[in-house]
Amino acid sequence: MAAVSTQTIGTIAVFGATGQQGGAVVDALLDHRARVRALVRNPQSGPAQALAARGIELAAIRIDDPASLAAALATVEAFYFMTPEANSLDEVEAEIRVGTALVDAAAAARVPHVVFNSVFGADRETGVPHHDSKRRIEQHLGKSGLRVTMVRPTAFMEGFASVMAPGLEHGEIVLRLPLPADVALKMISIRDIGRVATALLLDTAAAPGGAVELVGDELTGPRIAAAFGARAGLPGRYEALPLSVLSNDLDRAMFRQFAEATDYPSDLAVVRSIEPATLDLVGWIRATGWTAPASVAGS
Ligand SMILES: NC(=O)c1ccc[n+]([C@@H]2O[C@H](COP(=O)([O-])OP(=O)(O)OC[C@H]3O[C@@H](n4cnc5c(N)ncnc54)[C@H](OP(=O)(O)O)[C@@H]3O)[C@@H](O)[C@H]2O)c1
Repeated sequence: MAAVSTQTIGTIAVFGATGQQGGAVVDALLDHRARVRALVRNPQSGPAQALAARGIELAAIRIDDPASLAAALATVEAFYFMTPEANSLDEVEAEIRVGTALVDAAAAARVPHVVFNSVFGADRETGVPHHDSKRRIEQHLGKSGLRVTMVRPTAFMEGFASVMAPGLEHGEIVLRLPLPADVALKMISIRDIGRVATALLLDTAAAPGGAVELVGDELTGPRIAAAFGARAGLPGRYEALPLSVLSNDLDRAMFRQFAEATDYPSDLAVVRSIEPATLDLVGWIRATGWTAPASVAGS
C-alpha cells in the first residue's frame, strides 16, 4: 500500500480500535500518517494505552451516553465503526443498539463520511441474526442523511489460526468445517479489511455503489486443506462436518448461509482495485508464517 500525504486530511475517528478489525484500520491509517482518535470504553486499559503510546488520541465514550459520543465525533473528517461480536439473540439486540447509537451520534455531529464495517450479504435478509443486525444498522445509516460507505467482510482468514485451524493427523493436514466440500468459502485477511477501509476513509479510493464486499479469496474445503498441506509439505485432506456439530444457533445459521454462497458470486477484482496487494489464502499463509501444528496424540 503506497503511503499518501495526509496533510490536508483531518482526524479520523475509529470505534473498535482495541479490537481486531479496528486495530487493522489503525495500523493502516498510521501507515498513511493520518491523525487518529480512538473511541474507547476504558482509556486506562492495556490495549487503549498501547494505542496512546503510538500517538493516538483517546476519547472516552459510553454507548449509552450521547454526550460522550458527540464530544468524540466533534470535528472529525471521517468515522469508521464496527459492531461487537454477538453470540446470542440478546447480544444481537445489544449490537444493534451500539450501531444505532453510533449512527445517531455521527448524524448529530455531521461527520462528513462514515465507513461502516458490516458483513457480506448485508444487502439482503439472510436469516443470520448477527448478519441481519448489521443490515438493520446499514438501513439506519441509509436514513441518516450521512455520506456512508459500507465495507462488508467475508470470513476472516485469521480463523485458520484459531477456531478453524487445520490439524496434523497421521502425516496429513486435516481441515474439518461444517461446510459441504463443493462450496467455496469466501474469505479476507483482517490486515486487508484495515487497508481497504483506510483507502475509503482517506478518500484515496471509492467503493462502487457505496459498498464493497471484502473478499480476498474463495476456495472449497479440499482446496483450503491442499493449500495448508502444500505449505507443510504434506497431503491435505478435507472432511465436511454436519451443521449439528455447532452448538450455537447463530453459528448454525451462519454456516447454512455460507453453503448458499454460490448463489451470490463475488467479484474479487473490486477489492484488488482498491488494495492491489490484497492477500489470497496462499499469500496469507506465507505472510503469517503459518506452520503445521504439532501432531495430535496417537497419530
Ligand atoms: N470472525 C469473522 O470471520 C467475521 C467476519 C465478518 C464479520 N465479523 C464481525 O466482526 C465483528 C467483530 O469484530 P472484531 O473481531 O474486530 O472485534 P473484536 O476484536 O472483538 O473487538 C471488539 C471491539 O469493540 C469494542 N467494544 C465492544 N463492545 C463495546 C461497547 N459496548 N462499547 C464500546 N466498545 C465496545 C472493544 O473495545 P474494548 O477494548 O473496550 O473491549 C473492541 O475494540 C462482529 O460483529 C462479527 O460479527 C466477523
